[in-house]
Amino acid sequence: MNFDAKLDEALQRLHDEGRYRTFIDIERRNGQFPHAVWTKPDGTQEPISVWCGNDYLGMGQHPVIIEAMHEAIDATGAGSGGTRNISGTTVFHKRLEAELADLHGKEAALLFTSAYIANDATLSTLPKLFPGLIIYSDELNHASMIEGVRRNGGAKRIFRHNDVEHLRELLEADDSAAPKLIAFESVYSMDGDFGPIEEICDLADEFGAMTYIDEVHAVGMYGPRGAGVAERDRIMHRLDIINGTLAKAYGVMGGYIAASAKMCDAIRSYAPGFIFTTSLPPAVAAGAAASVAHLKRDQALRDLHQERAKILKTRLKGMGLPIIDHGSHIVPVIVGDPVHTKQLSDMLLDGYGIYVQPINFPTVPRGTERLRFTPSPVHGPGEMDKLVRAMDELWSHCALNRAELSA
Ligand SMILES: Cc1ncc(COP(=O)(O)O)c(C=O)c1O
Repeated sequence: MNFDAKLDEALQRLHDEGRYRTFIDIERRNGQFPHAVWTKPDGTQEPISVWCGNDYLGMGQHPVIIEAMHEAIDATGAGSGGTRNISGTTVFHKRLEAELADLHGKEAALLFTSAYIANDATLSTLPKLFPGLIIYSDELNHASMIEGVRRNGGAKRIFRHNDVEHLRELLEADDSAAPKLIAFESVYSMDGDFGPIEEICDLADEFGAMTYIDEVHAVGMYGPRGAGVAERDRIMHRLDIINGTLAKAYGVMGGYIAASAKMCDAIRSYAPGFIFTTSLPPAVAAGAAASVAHLKRDQALRDLHQERAKILKTRLKGMGLPIIDHGSHIVPVIVGDPVHTKQLSDMLLDGYGIYVQPINFPTVPRGTERLRFTPSPVHGPGEMDKLVRAMDELWSHCALNRAELSA
């Protein structure tokens, strides 16, 4: 086989569909987020402001975290030097797991190198622990959950997004004695809509199923201590396994599950994605622990975040832009065509120094391509004005396109 030609073909397909991904080379500067420096393909540099990051609260540059990471790196050096089982468990990992268990009101928590791995490793391991397990998975679950469910060799049922009636039908159709688990998210990050947590917990109770929730786009930001939407809705205790990330609102890196001590012990003991990989660097664990601890108390930051998101949505809506608003912190503006979305993103970056990555298939369904804005507490009124003006100008400039786009 001509391997090179095959690679060319595969890449060309993406170009033809307008969804070839180009990484924007940006340099964040400590203390200046959302301002950053963009290195263009020709090597020249330009200041930009980042509007599409998942450092939702600006914690990635918070002094409390930076200090904790400096202290840990000075004390212990760079890497952990091993898997959790073989010399890679440190006081920093233990402290972070304790902090996370406390956050979610669970007996234990288990750290992974990312929430992607946490989802994939946990969901692919559960059928080993519960033979015959059927997993009911929301159709819009994140790729990491889909991968975990797909690889696990167990039975799966996909229910229509947030459709509890469809979920009920699927549960009713299966053997009442079969072990069951319902896997879903609290905030779906592309539309910013919320999962029907309480209804799903009710169904789980009725059918004797376990519940697995991904709170990746909610931890740090919702609930009085930042434990997520389930905490906000006072139903955290009804969820058997809670998945979260330390890389988005907590501003660092890593992922976890929080659950009963026995569940964490079993996943720890059986999941290859936990066992056979080097643990997080201690300094990363220290920074994440400092962030989680800090956000348990900083309600003002959460309030400011929500306020900024509300203001941006109100202003864009006021200009007649097609935004999706489910009341969360995510602000998607639907363009509906991959080429136009990329053009708009390029024009924002080149003409206004505003960086918002185009979101295309397969991250979102075809025809719903979008610009997804993530305002944070550190996106001040000046940045917001600049963005709103730029969007207004571009929408007028592309008036013809806009008619086409919304057709
Ligand atoms: C819903 C959801 N779950 C899990 C992940 C993975 O998180 P991490 O970046 O920690 O791997 C993401 C990442 O974007 C996500 O959107």
